[in-house]
Amino acid sequence: MVAASFKFNIDGIEVEATEGQSVIEACDEAGIYIPRLCHHPELPPSGNCRVCTCKINGRHSAACVTPAAHGMVIENDTPQLTSDRRAVIEMLFVEGNHPCPYCVASGDCELQALGYRLGMVAPTQPYQWPERKIDATHPDIYLDHDRCILCSRCIRASRMEDGKTVFGFEGRGIAMRLNVDAQGGLGETQMAAIDKAASVCPVACIVIKRHNYQVPNGSRRFDKTPIGSDIEAKRTRRQS
Ligand code: SF4
Ligand code: SF4
Ligand code: FES
Repeated sequence: MVAASFKFNIDGIEVEATEGQSVIEACDEAGIYIPRLCHHPELPPSGNCRVCTCKINGRHSAACVTPAAHGMVIENDTPQLTSDRRAVIEMLFVEGNHPCPYCVASGDCELQALGYRLGMVAPTQPYQWPERKIDATHPDIYLDHDRCILCSRCIRASRMEDGKTVFGFEGRGIAMRLNVDAQGGLGETQMAAIDKAASVCPVACIVIKRHNYQVPNGSRRFDKTPIGSDIEAKRTRRQS
């Protein structure tokens, strides 16, 4: 059976969607970029970062967990929403330790790229300088907890794609941390470098050892084009 299709409006643009799509999925397909961090196209959504929050029919809602519906009116690219998203990104920067210029992920990091795209200059909140450890117990992967933004992509990927339970969260609120399901660290888990969970981290928390500089600085994903350009290019192509 073919899924029913319908239309909604985002920032004055009419988008065609099909039953079962979320707002973010329908917009991605139509070439309209909604900023996001915890969303990953190959994983079920979790709705925990709030970066994709739009005004949907007048209410703030996360686009990655809101089903698209006929006649919706959505605001996405507005100065207020950009400012709200920038504030979320700023908080993530000050809650962890993010020395971008000498980070292995620089140029390939979604948090850094969003900072640029949303016009973050310097965080207005004080840095918290948390003391977190690196877990280098695995022969092929290390975990740099300083960079973790608690997006849960690795948890979802490990459970739903890899059939494992390598990652989870412990603690609540500001004390929440990523943990692994072994006392002795990642090296004692079932984690393998080919696992989906090893490739979905948006920052430099899960890092494959010995692969760091295969793509040099200056030639990485977001060095030349801003995050979201690949999605927006679909619309440009359609219009030309
Ligand atoms: S993980 Fe991203 S934001 Fe954090 S230091 Fe590295 S490049 Fe910067
Ligand atoms: S390790 Fe990476 S993927 Fe996992 S929660 Fe932290 S930032 Fe997200
Ligand atoms: S991308 Fe939607 S809440 Fe994170």
